Amino acid sequence: MAVEAKRGNIFTRAWRAFDDRTGTSKLVGPMLKHPVPPTGRIGWAYVFGTATLFSFITLVATGTVLATAYIPATSDAYNSLQFITNDTFGHVVRGIHYFAASSMIIMIGLHMIRVFLMGSYKFPREVNWLTGVVLFALTLAMAFTGQLLRWDQDGFWGLVVAAEQAGRLPFIGHALAHFIFAGDTVSGATLSRFYAFHVFFFPALIFATVALHLYLVIHDGISEPPTAGDPVNPKTYRARYEALLERKGVPFWPDAAWRDAIFGVVLILTIVLLAIIFGPKELGKPPDPSIVQAYPRPDWYFLWYFGVLALLPKGTESYVIILAPVLLFVMLFALPLFSNKGERSPKRRPWAVGFVILTLIMIGTLWQVAVRAPWSPHFEVQPLSAQVIGASSGQVYDGAQLFNSKGCQYCHAVNGQGGDRGPNLTNVTNRLTQDAITIRILNGGGNMPAYGGNLTPDELNAIIAFLKSRQPS
Ligand code: HEC
Repeated sequence: MAVEAKRGNIFTRAWRAFDDRTGTSKLVGPMLKHPVPPTGRIGWAYVFGTATLFSFITLVATGTVLATAYIPATSDAYNSLQFITNDTFGHVVRGIHYFAASSMIIMIGLHMIRVFLMGSYKFPREVNWLTGVVLFALTLAMAFTGQLLRWDQDGFWGLVVAAEQAGRLPFIGHALAHFIFAGDTVSGATLSRFYAFHVFFFPALIFATVALHLYLVIHDGISEPPTAGDPVNPKTYRARYEALLERKGVPFWPDAAWRDAIFGVVLILTIVLLAIIFGPKELGKPPDPSIVQAYPRPDWYFLWYFGVLALLPKGTESYVIILAPVLLFVMLFALPLFSNKGERSPKRRPWAVGFVILTLIMIGTLWQVAVRAPWSPHFEVQPLSAQVIGASSGQVYDGAQLFNSKGCQYCHAVNGQGGDRGPNLTNVTNRLTQDAITIRILNGGGNMPAYGGNLTPDELNAIIAFLKSRQPS
């Protein structure tokens, strides 16, 4: 060793001395060199797992930088984000954080599809599928909590809507909403709670679960590309896998992992480039609890789910918003417990392939529905003209202006102008008594926001006078 250490330039000698004291190569070497099945060109389908990890590391790095300037308090959160965004460096860092989040969701989705289609979750890798499902849930939880930290109108009202829906669930609803809000309404406590979850709790869980996930990848080995007509038999699988490695195994680095490295580097460069070109998602207006956001929109990855909620018959939403994800995760957890042997090749598993295609088509369609949103409010509606109103001043005229400025017209048409998310109100005074109309406006319900706190009695009277005046007497 002593003679050995004298050879080579200063860097090799420094490295050898370091390695001698720490045992680094003894620890990492076997991990890098351990034999894996040759994957050939199919190997490109194996890169999405590491790509998810690369995205996560990018998120941790940029998130840490953002946390140095972000102030998690209701009075400052929005301003501090604006400060970050107006700074050139901050602008790019926020952009990278945003696009890396999108990337992590796409990559984890592709990784799950790959593992599912190739039957890689079957014996002996069932437990690793389960840790993967936990990681998927944690990723979505990160996406959900991250949106609120933007603390703009979309984030704020999106949460109000979600928690109100949750609150309508029987038995657990109230407790759940209370837990999400950290109180009875959105407040500073809610923001602190989301911040703590987004920055400490969920990332810590992700780190721990990723460690377990990677340990299991090494313990059970990377699944070999499936061959049709070669089913998994738990009794013989391990022996055959060992024999395969013996015969054809290649060292993980560089023979298998070079693809991961290239894909990961290209991915991160793409994220940085997108961040520089497009910048982060624009901040909405600052949250103002006195302006009901008629139509909060979640980020793209939750948008399709929004489509589901909007298409559902009234009254079922509150159940679906909570129960559908619960059911999905029960199914994902149950998968390896019920089908852990047999064919792995997608060629022999038409149901599995069909299921994936159907899911993708469903999400794509719902997403389109949510983007086009025929049921969504029309934000570009013009106020009614004085001619249509029939007055250019006075209570009726004021009511017409309020009807537009308070957002009623986004959802309700009057005299053929306005959105059609809610009923046409031209003849509403025929259908409903004045009391019923007042109660409806103050209390909302059934996708109609409650305006109780946002209209003075005078304003309310003006709106009702305006609605009455639509009635030919
Ligand atoms: C986000 C869209 C939206 C906005 C904004 C909105 N509404 Fe509504 N409104 C609805 C929906 C949806 C219904 C139907 C609720 C139901 O089916 O019970 C409704 C119902 C009503 C009704 C009862 C109509 C009937 O025939 O039963 C009245 C009156 C009404 N809204 C007035 C208003 C006024 C006034 C405003 C503005 C201050 C307003 N709405 C803003 C969506 C909206």
